[in-house]
Amino acid sequence: MTTQRDIERRGFWIDGKEVAGGSATSTLIDPASGQLFAEVVAATPEAAERAVAAADKAFHDGRWSRLPGNARARILVRMAELIRENLESLARAETQNVGKPISEARDEVALAASCFDYYAGAIDKVGGQTIPVSAPGLSMTFREPLGVCALIVPWNFPIAISSWKIAPALAMGNTVVLKPAEWTPMTALRLAELSREAGLPDGVLNVVTGSGSIVGEALVRASPVRKISFTGSTEVGAHVMRRAADQIKRVSLELGGKSANVLFEDADLEKAIPAAVSSSLGNAGQDCCARSRILVHRPILDEARQRLVTAFDSVVVGDPLDEATTMGPLVNRSHRDRVLSFIEGGKSEGAMLLCGGRAPDAPDLQNGNYLRPAIFDQVRDDMRIVREEIFGPVVVLMPFEDEEDAIRIANDSRYGLSGSVWTRDVGRALRVSRAMETGVVSVNSGWSVHLEAPFGGMKQSGIGRELGLQALDGWSEWKSIYIETQQ
Ligand code: TAP
Repeated sequence: MTTQRDIERRGFWIDGKEVAGGSATSTLIDPASGQLFAEVVAATPEAAERAVAAADKAFHDGRWSRLPGNARARILVRMAELIRENLESLARAETQNVGKPISEARDEVALAASCFDYYAGAIDKVGGQTIPVSAPGLSMTFREPLGVCALIVPWNFPIAISSWKIAPALAMGNTVVLKPAEWTPMTALRLAELSREAGLPDGVLNVVTGSGSIVGEALVRASPVRKISFTGSTEVGAHVMRRAADQIKRVSLELGGKSANVLFEDADLEKAIPAAVSSSLGNAGQDCCARSRILVHRPILDEARQRLVTAFDSVVVGDPLDEATTMGPLVNRSHRDRVLSFIEGGKSEGAMLLCGGRAPDAPDLQNGNYLRPAIFDQVRDDMRIVREEIFGPVVVLMPFEDEEDAIRIANDSRYGLSGSVWTRDVGRALRVSRAMETGVVSVNSGWSVHLEAPFGGMKQSGIGRELGLQALDGWSEWKSIYIETQQ
């Protein structure tokens, strides 16, 4: 039973200070217990503008943007150290807020720390060029920071996705205003506190809480904002892009997915099946990279189906703070209802539910947003469960006849974020990976994200790339300076 004293109360973060007062608050419910655990002050549009003004002032006073690269790097490294020192409390906060198993939350926090290290290390290794031009002089290029960047992130991987944006943006000398999802602001607010401890000047990192339709809109509108880096749904991403066009703001979009996991007849099923489980059910399937369409070569269909059902039935759904749990609750009740409506829709459209797709029976799980993971068989290309991003623990099984058929099915989607190919034939692995219209492919692995490699989507999964050194192009402008050398 939660008492008033257990409820954490937080404000948002502007210019190095917590802003605790405000009439509107967001109430946060623990997805595992259904209990209220925190109240967070929601920013108004005026407060969002104040945050942008603080970031703009911090950018123009040069305390960050003109700081020598190695001094910026030291602060980002300190940030990484502080995240590691607070790993357990950050992971617990993320688990309580999102419902993900504590082991996944620890990995996510560790990834966030590594992201700060990675971009700290990049600062003094990227620069411009000296270019011979067809004129009596030479041209030099510089990477200039953009200015104030608005970072809008979703609820599924709050600290990881925030860090993917904050670290490279700050590395290039920008200042930022971060807007976490209204449901999941807790680790973003902790990051702001830690940044102060790390020595980041006030105003360089601001965090505004509240809903997208109020606070997100205000950030997108604010004229000092030069870039919007958005991660979320394709629908809201398209809206943000339209709004950004009014002021020619730079936009990067990391959007939805419906990724294919392609299992050829020579796949090593001992590895492929566990990976099919983790790559579709990690974070309870609330993952833009979830391989939610499992494409199986006809000769191994029966064996793969049976192994998948056994593996899905073995998933330990339960309290996310229990170390034995492999799948926690969904983020909130309304989202679970949405996922359940997809499951009902799949059944009524004629697909066969092989397992799961309902709340677990255990009495102690009834107050949380739990769901047993589901596999659908006998699906058609036109079904909603095949075409739409469900963002929950639901996969569809789709047989294919040959390589060409696999590529056709894999590409039959408006999305193009990630995917996997399982085969021992290296030529086939490369042919199929190259033919898949997605930004990221893993061969004989279900893993999409490597900090050192670019990540992002094709088609309606997005524009631009995060991570890797390639991301730095999106956080800076190339400037050319020509110097006449003729006497
Ligand atoms: P969205 O509903 O699109 O929300 C994403 C963020 O945008 C939230 O912070 C949201 O705020 C904000 N927002 C909503 N309306 C806005 C508006 N009019 N103007 C500005 N900001 C606005 O997505 P979600 O439900 O949080 O996340 C799930 C989606 O994110 C899925 O489609 C998933 O695939 C995608 N996703 C993609 C990736 C990558 S890397 N491609 C990674 C993770 C998730 P509030 O929620 O506070 O209202």
